[in-house]
This record gives sequence, C-alpha cells and structure tokens, in this order.
Amino acid sequence: MKIRKSTEPERKEILNIHNRAFGNDKGAEIAKLVDDLFDDETAMPLLSLVAVENNKLVGHVLFTKVVVTKAEKILSAQILAPLAILPDKQKKGIGEELINEGLRLLEEAGTELVFVLGHPTYYPRCGFIPAGAQGFDAPYPIPEEHAEAWMVQELRDDVLKRHSGTVQCSEVLNEPQHWRE
Ligand SMILES: CC(C)(COP(=O)(O)OP(=O)(O)OC[C@H]1O[C@@H](n2cnc3c(N)ncnc32)[C@H](O)[C@@H]1OP(=O)(O)O)[C@@H](O)C(=O)NCCC(=O)NCCS
Repeated sequence: MKIRKSTEPERKEILNIHNRAFGNDKGAEIAKLVDDLFDDETAMPLLSLVAVENNKLVGHVLFTKVVVTKAEKILSAQILAPLAILPDKQKKGIGEELINEGLRLLEEAGTELVFVLGHPTYYPRCGFIPAGAQGFDAPYPIPEEHAEAWMVQELRDDVLKRHSGTVQCSEVLNEPQHWRE
C-alpha cells in the first residue's frame, strides 16, 4: 500500500471512494462536496492524498485551507475533510496512515494548525484534541453534546497556547449544511 498525492485524472475514482464509504445516506452529498472543493479557489492550497493498493485507489483524504479570524496574527491553517476508505478496506489502518502522511506534509509546508470535525474517538489517536477548549471556534456553533467532535492539532509548538480565533473555511466548506451534525 502506497500513499501519494492524487492527480486530476483520478478525480472520478476518488469521488467513487466517498460515495461508497459514506453509503446511500450521505455518499452522493460528500462526493459532491469533494468535487466542488477541488474547484474552490478559496480552498487553496489543498492537499489531496490517496492510498493505492495494486494500482487501485482504496482511500482518500483531503485537507483544505482555512482562515483563522480574530487571531492575534495570521496563522497558516488547514482542515481535514473528508476522509474515506473503501468499505472492504476499512479497519486496516489505512485511514490513520493517510492522516499521518498528510500531517507530515503539512508540517513540512509550514502549516501551524490542522482542524477536523469528526468522530471524537477516532481522530485523537492521530493527535487531535478538542478545539473549543483551546479557544478555537468552528464556523458555526457546535452543539454542546458534540463539542468533542470539533478538534485541532498544532504542528508548531505553542501555537495553541499563544493564539485563539474563529475558523472560516473555504466557500464550499463554509456552507451551513456541512456543519449541521
Ligand atoms: C472512518 C474511516 C475513515 C476510518 O478509516 P479506517 O482505515 O477504517 O481506520 P483505521 O484502520 O485507521 O482505524 C480503525 C479504527 O477506527 C475505528 N472507527 C472506524 N469508524 C469509526 C467511527 N465511525 N467512529 C469511531 N471510530 C471508528 C474502528 O473502530 C477502528 O478501531 P480499532 O482500531 O480500535 O478497531 C473509515 O472507516 C471510513 O471511510 N468510514 C466511512 C466514512 C467516514 O465516516 N469518514 C470519516 C468522517 S469523520
């Protein structure tokens, strides 16, 4: 299994991974989100990584640019969304490998913070901690019972200690329907 940056001709295969991983319920919506994010200039720079097994794409993760408003200085920040592994390839550690490789490349590129809204039992294993408690608000209020799902990770020491602010995503991801649950 290899992790590498995706290429434009792979877009359809990537959308298919999201369609299948998120299933009947949300698959089409998430695939459209990814398709739109690839064309969203306000999401740049983005980082799109695929997991490849026997020349077939089995997983995908997307990181896109966010702006932290009300911060004391301009912070370089990204959000992880979404992540998907083909159903028959799940629970083999591929998701974790995609995230860790993404974090490594982002750190190399000088990214200071990475946010994610997701399963509060899954992302902490890759180093994410609740963001609200660190003083970083999501684009829309997160209900108290889901507060732990809004997470952040610093890729440069002491950024969380020294800064706070409100995250504003790219135009596509900032749409309220992506923040309802
Ligand atoms: C969630 C997902 C990306 C994880 O990828 P993966 O490659 O299967 O994950 P890993 O193998 O790295 O880790 C597997 C662990 O994640 C846990 N996990 C998987 N889905 C989870 C979920 N919805 N909530 C909490 N934990 C979850 C598994 O229980 C497993 O735990 P274990 O190691 O203790 O058995 C993948 O299952 C997937 O594509 N799911 C459908 C789409 C989705 O929900 N994406 C995430 C949106 S936030």
